[in-house]
Amino acid sequence: MWEKNILITGGAGFIGSHLVRLMVNKYPTYRIICLDKLTYAGNLKNLTDVDNAPNYAFVKADIVDAEAMKSVFAEYEISDVIHLAAESHVDRSIEGPMEFVMTNVVGTVNLLQVAKDSWKGDDHVFHHVSTDEVYGSLGEDGLFEETTAYDPRSPYSSSKASSDHFVRAFHHTYGLPIKISNCSNNYGSHQFPEKLIPLMINNIVNNKPLPIYGKGENIRDWLWVNDHASAIETIFSKGRIGESYNVGGLNEWTNIDLVKYLCRLLDKKLNRAEGESEKLITYVTDRAGHDMRYAIDASKIEAELNWKPSLKFEEGLEITVDWYLKNTEWTNEITSGSYRDYYDTMYQNR
Ligand code: NAD
Ligand code: TYD
Repeated sequence: MWEKNILITGGAGFIGSHLVRLMVNKYPTYRIICLDKLTYAGNLKNLTDVDNAPNYAFVKADIVDAEAMKSVFAEYEISDVIHLAAESHVDRSIEGPMEFVMTNVVGTVNLLQVAKDSWKGDDHVFHHVSTDEVYGSLGEDGLFEETTAYDPRSPYSSSKASSDHFVRAFHHTYGLPIKISNCSNNYGSHQFPEKLIPLMINNIVNNKPLPIYGKGENIRDWLWVNDHASAIETIFSKGRIGESYNVGGLNEWTNIDLVKYLCRLLDKKLNRAEGESEKLITYVTDRAGHDMRYAIDASKIEAELNWKPSLKFEEGLEITVDWYLKNTEWTNEITSGSYRDYYDTMYQNR
């Protein structure tokens, strides 16, 4: 008999796999049920180290499928949900928004319905994992606070904002015990190489052009994925019901400075002459509607729940680069299939 049966959706993805690992190891009396559709972004190889843990189970399913969700809740007696399953890449959302509406909005509402119908009493948590992109784009000053008005501007962020609103609506309307976290950009091992950092590492290693959108002056606030996982675990276990928590690293970088930093780091690691990798930098047509700046005020989670990032960016980046250099098989497998078509569509004539 398990103390809790926690459903982690999207657990085979980038952030999900780090969270599943943390929860399986930290809570041997909880059963962790990882549910994932295994889209292009989901990969069971991200979870090989927990595969045989007695408190771990995997279910391949689509959160849009209501009947499948009902049977998972019944079969595993789901007591809590940490919901990460999503279409997560802004560029893909610009090419095709409907998949984002289906998974991020319809899929989330589906899960909320099943949780509402299955749970009696208060001893449950539905933790929805969201993004700072719901707040829109900042100018030179200011930080996103939990009270900042939602102003999503890409199809991705609009779908995530919509899902956040539904999660809150289920709390206010039906009393569902929910929590929401809105986090800044993550980096770390096992990230699909469509996102800035793993894409640049992979291209530097393979001596391919480094596509910088626009002038490279857009700013992101970067957080190590394991610190995001620990923030989710902290909010899930100690955060207040009905509340939102912003999570971020107070770590703002322009894209161009970040890519140049990666070039210098990899020049050293690959024994290249100083400045060699930077020559690969290529400025390409900007992303449509490109948000200028994201930056998080994380003082609420720090003050209330005593959470702080554990690593400096430079340390986290070095660990990340070392992981990609050691795990070329992981990247090569991913980039050998449909990734090539994706890459051509996004970058060939840009
Ligand atoms: P990811 O794309 O790496 O992983 C998403 C996972 O969801 C994949 O394993 C995929 O197979 C699964 N999935 C997709 N559609 C599904 C469906 N219909 N049913 C079941 N599973 C499905 O994404 P990520 O970067 O790990 O992000 C996880 C969550 O965190 C997302 O909700 C995202 O919005 C949020 N988030 C991400 C970041 C970031 O920087 N990556 C920052 C803040 C918040
Ligand atoms: P990304 O990793 O896609 O995250 P998000 O758009 O959700 O913040 O992109 C991070 C930043 O890097 C964003 O400003 C877009 C930029 N970018 C490039 O300049 N070139 C690229 O090839 C990619 C993928 C992103």
